[in-house]
Amino acid sequence: MPNYYYKGQFRQHPETHNRRGLVHTIRRILLAPRSLKYLGGGFLVLWFYVLVRVTFFTPSPYDLEPELEKRLQRARSSKKNPTWPDKNPTALRPVLLDPLPSQNASREWPPNLDDMLCRPKIYVYPDPPAIQAIYATVPPMNTPYIAERILLEQLRDPSSSAHQSYVTLNPEEADFFYIPFLGARYLNHCWFTLGEKGDCGVDERYVLPMMKSIQQEFPYWNRTNGRDHLMTHPMDRASHYYQSRSIFENATFLTTVGDLRRIGSSVVGARRYQNIVVPSATALLDLVQVDPSKYLTSSGHPRQKRRDVFLVFGGRYRDVEPEDVYSAGIRSLLYKGFDQQPDYSDKYMKLLSRARYGLAPMAHTLSTTRLWEYIAFGVVPVIIADGIQEAFEDDVDWRSFSVRIRRKDAHRMDVILRSIPEEEYQQKREILWEVGRRVLLSRDAWHLIVRDLCRRARLEGKRTLRRDVHEPLTAQDMTIA
Ligand SMILES: *[C@@H]1O[C@H](CO)[C@@H](O)[C@H](O)[C@H]1NC(C)=O
Ligand SMILES: *[C@@H]1O[C@H](CO)[C@@H](O)[C@H](O)[C@H]1NC(C)=O
Ligand SMILES: *[C@@H]1O[C@H](CO)[C@@H](O)[C@H](O)[C@H]1NC(C)=O
Repeated sequence: MPNYYYKGQFRQHPETHNRRGLVHTIRRILLAPRSLKYLGGGFLVLWFYVLVRVTFFTPSPYDLEPELEKRLQRARSSKKNPTWPDKNPTALRPVLLDPLPSQNASREWPPNLDDMLCRPKIYVYPDPPAIQAIYATVPPMNTPYIAERILLEQLRDPSSSAHQSYVTLNPEEADFFYIPFLGARYLNHCWFTLGEKGDCGVDERYVLPMMKSIQQEFPYWNRTNGRDHLMTHPMDRASHYYQSRSIFENATFLTTVGDLRRIGSSVVGARRYQNIVVPSATALLDLVQVDPSKYLTSSGHPRQKRRDVFLVFGGRYRDVEPEDVYSAGIRSLLYKGFDQQPDYSDKYMKLLSRARYGLAPMAHTLSTTRLWEYIAFGVVPVIIADGIQEAFEDDVDWRSFSVRIRRKDAHRMDVILRSIPEEEYQQKREILWEVGRRVLLSRDAWHLIVRDLCRRARLEGKRTLRRDVHEPLTAQDMTIA
């Protein structure tokens, strides 16, 4: 041991001694085979710790605040701990509170339909002489496509509330112009009376003379390129029966089909914001003119019996296959099982007043005229028509009085309907009776059309004196005549 001091004899400078000793010791420890093992083990443990940490404890953008996470954790574990809810009686059990106070009516939706949005004036063009000559040989037909006739008659009938509220005989003060177009009358006569396959020259003989009179003998079309003109197209394909339709396509159409799909058989999707969806006429209500009040009390209950028929459906279904384009196959489900339910019925007419639900699956188009019959008889409609736009959806809350089922759930219809609580069914039935029926053609259709026109023409709160001079509505103007 030459460098080692011992008992005051040989002594090296203490610092160098220490440093060299330390270096020496570390080197000895590091190079010893046993320490290598410990070191390796240490690294392994560290690596494992980092791995676990990174895998399980990395904060993610979905982490909630620690306090909230803790509460959730407690709530989750409380399920296993039956004593816990005593400390907090609301844990994972429904909390029953009082309803919120009603708010200012002007903030509510759906709105009160009796409050007018605006009171525009509508001028109805007379039938041009050339068209009158055609009507002499084309009598009106009794088909379900007479919404065009009903809406026109309401405007022309001095005793109707539509006429009294909105019609002006002076076109100079009109906000809107109604074209007395009855294309379905012409075509239905052609197809059903004459039995023709084509269109009996509807463009040359009917459309062009009608539009020529309106566009050339009156200055109003050219003033706005037809934007303030209205006309009704009550059949499935709307304006697509007319080759020459481009001459009137700037007008607003009242159509009986609303379709939000990109490609629908109804071909009205592209005009979604230029159309107003209106109710259809139906054979039962508008031709046979069945009076629901003969069967129902003033609150919509059957006069004699109870509503003991669970579901009624009166349309075609027996020849429909699941792959068919017609009704997107939905109607095939009926003969594949639903029609064997003893409380389903297709004995339609007499049972309307006793049915709870009425089935309205799409057909060629999304809408089916049965819908309006269900509504008139207080039968809650079950609508299976993905992408349908119902009439006046801006003002009327269809969800509150109908049931909508998606096509992908159509096969579960029975389960879905039977799981609706009685209380909810009664609520729907009542809203249907009070509000839903107002949509019908024979009720407030024109008032609801006008509400749409008010919004489109930005006339809300206005009352017309002359065109372009709109006085604010006063209290007397505010309710429907
Ligand atoms: C409701 O709102 C209207 C319009 O803002 C206002 O004139 C009216 O005073 C409000 N009514 C109540 C009860 O607050
Ligand atoms: C409206 O414009 C069309 C096309 O420019 C024209 O043929 C027609 O005569 C005009 N109508 C009136 C009343 O000026
Ligand atoms: C429809 O409107 C466009 C532009 O707004 C106009 O160019 C066209 O002439 C109008 N068509 C008819 C038939 O008035």
